[in-house]
Amino acid sequence: MAIAKFRFSKKLIAGYSALFLLGVLLLGYAVFIEPRQLIVQHYSIALPHWSPKLNHLKVAVLTDLHVGCLSVPVSKLRRVIATTNAEHPDIIVMLGDFVASHGRKSSLKPEEFVHELSALQAKYGVYTVLGNHDWWYNGEAVREELQKANIHVLENESAELIVNDTNLWIAGLADQWTRAPNITLALKQVPLGAPCLMLMHEPDLFREVPESVSLSLAGHTHGGQVALPFIGPPILPTEMGSKFARGLIVEGEKNYFVSSGVGTSVLPVRFCVPPEICVLDLTSQ
Ligand SMILES: [Fe+2]
Repeated sequence: MAIAKFRFSKKLIAGYSALFLLGVLLLGYAVFIEPRQLIVQHYSIALPHWSPKLNHLKVAVLTDLHVGCLSVPVSKLRRVIATTNAEHPDIIVMLGDFVASHGRKSSLKPEEFVHELSALQAKYGVYTVLGNHDWWYNGEAVREELQKANIHVLENESAELIVNDTNLWIAGLADQWTRAPNITLALKQVPLGAPCLMLMHEPDLFREVPESVSLSLAGHTHGGQVALPFIGPPILPTEMGSKFARGLIVEGEKNYFVSSGVGTSVLPVRFCVPPEICVLDLTSQ
């Protein structure tokens, strides 16, 4: 009996050891491998409120760079820029959280890396909103550096573009966690029914955006950073639910898009949510 008990214990120890080793391997992958990857996700989106003259407008979406976090040194930012340019986008939109900070301290200051973004190339320009981490650090300082890099920062305001002899509007909301977003103000200049992209950092105001807006875009969620197979992300920093973790969401005539972005915050991990650049091919429904 004693011998049988000893054998069982050895099996148990072997089982626990295998589990421990698997845990270490998965943690190593989530900390050191996946966050360093970079994928390009292509989406073809048919919009109900869009002009046929704007068909196949190519919009690159970059968000949550968190430059200075463990997996996003300046060299990775350069790789993100080169990969985006290689897609030859018509417009680049950025959705906030440029810095890696949880307060007034940041591992890299905006003046140490934002100038790199001036290398982004898009026929009709680069537009952005700021995120909660930018404002926790110093939103004005981030905005100033972005403007120096020729990036249009939108806060409750819009910009008008002429594309193929057609007006296209890009509106941007103030960050919801740290500022006072105002959809009415952001759309004040936009004629009702005109093609319009609405940028915001958090997706929580998606459903407040009027149906006339062609597409609303947000970042912030990081896709949860960890998405368990068959379960999805256990934690998401939004009240919108896991449906809004990332990707295209269609509700009636409204179209929403969330990118899980590039960097990390809180924990330096990504699992089944690799860093991404999204490229949207927009057409009329
Ligand atoms: Fe973020």
